[in-house]
Amino acid sequence: MITDTLNNFIHNIPKAELHVHIEGTFEPELLFEIAQRNNIQIKHKSAEELKNAYNFNNLQEFLDIYYEGADVLLHEQDFYDLTFAYLQKCQSENIVHTEIFFDPQTHTQRGVSFKTLITGINKALIDGFKKWGITSRLIPNFLRHLSEEDAIKMFKEALEFRELITGFGLDSSELGHPPAKFKKVFQMVGEEGFLRVAHAGEEGPAQNVSDSLRLLKVSRIDHGVRSVDDKLLLKELVEKQIPLTVCPLSNLKLKVVKEMKDLPLQILLDHNILATINSDDPAYFGGYLNENYRAVAETFKWSEAEILTLAENSFKASFLANEDKNKWLGELRNNGYRSFANGVSKITIGQ
Ligand code: ADE
Ligand code: ZN
Repeated sequence: MITDTLNNFIHNIPKAELHVHIEGTFEPELLFEIAQRNNIQIKHKSAEELKNAYNFNNLQEFLDIYYEGADVLLHEQDFYDLTFAYLQKCQSENIVHTEIFFDPQTHTQRGVSFKTLITGINKALIDGFKKWGITSRLIPNFLRHLSEEDAIKMFKEALEFRELITGFGLDSSELGHPPAKFKKVFQMVGEEGFLRVAHAGEEGPAQNVSDSLRLLKVSRIDHGVRSVDDKLLLKELVEKQIPLTVCPLSNLKLKVVKEMKDLPLQILLDHNILATINSDDPAYFGGYLNENYRAVAETFKWSEAEILTLAENSFKASFLANEDKNKWLGELRNNGYRSFANGVSKITIGQ
């Protein structure tokens, strides 16, 4: 158990989330509600029964259930409701900025248009900004179990909505689908001026992290926990300040590590690597962002100082403009979070 003071600190401190799949925020209750209104029959009888199926031995077992859940999303309103529900969570957890992944191919291959899904998501983002000031970025991911040709097709569809998109990523089954498979489409992404990220070193080896940097020219790595197996790679991550978006509860649930203490988070921080904490697919992994912070604080016996560093990293590693990054980093400094974290004074933390 962590202390109430640390718990409050985690809750109150402004944070950015940089690795969350909108389809992974689909709570069973909302899933059932949307399935019902769309007249879609699902295998499980109730939200409770569905939740009980959330026991995974690896990434693939999770993905099978996750894609099945996403199949009930048909209309713009469905994507709106899904996104708005996540933004409500952000508001309740003091997540002030979020960079959201979505998997267009999961939906377009079922006949849902790119326009339907991105419009629904974007309308919710606009409302979340108006209501709570939460800023966001959108990052469509290519599904690595599909062909590069398919990825190129999705990329071309996405170009019509380019003003809504910050970058492109790569997710789904890492094993058997190395970064090299997507070299061409990532080059196209770069040529069109978008940022690039990729899931790598989650179930796959450190080599996938190196290859994502070299072949796909990504500026951020999603997960990347296997990077610690390669000393030279660690050095490169520090020197180039390549951020890692680590997802602790996800890694535990998908058995990337046996126990939370096996996550190399302390090593990453000790090396001054820009590691961040994120929720990945919170509806499936038993906790949103603050639950992830609490879990690592408890496991690694961390205090406010480490939590503050991780919150600072979340803004430094974000795709916010420098001006906005500095605004949040200034807020963390000026509101006394640092002095509190250093034990200099016991002041009241801002709300
Ligand atoms: N899609 C959703 N969550 C994912 C994860 N953790 N790894 C790869 N693809 C994903
Ligand atoms: Zn992910």
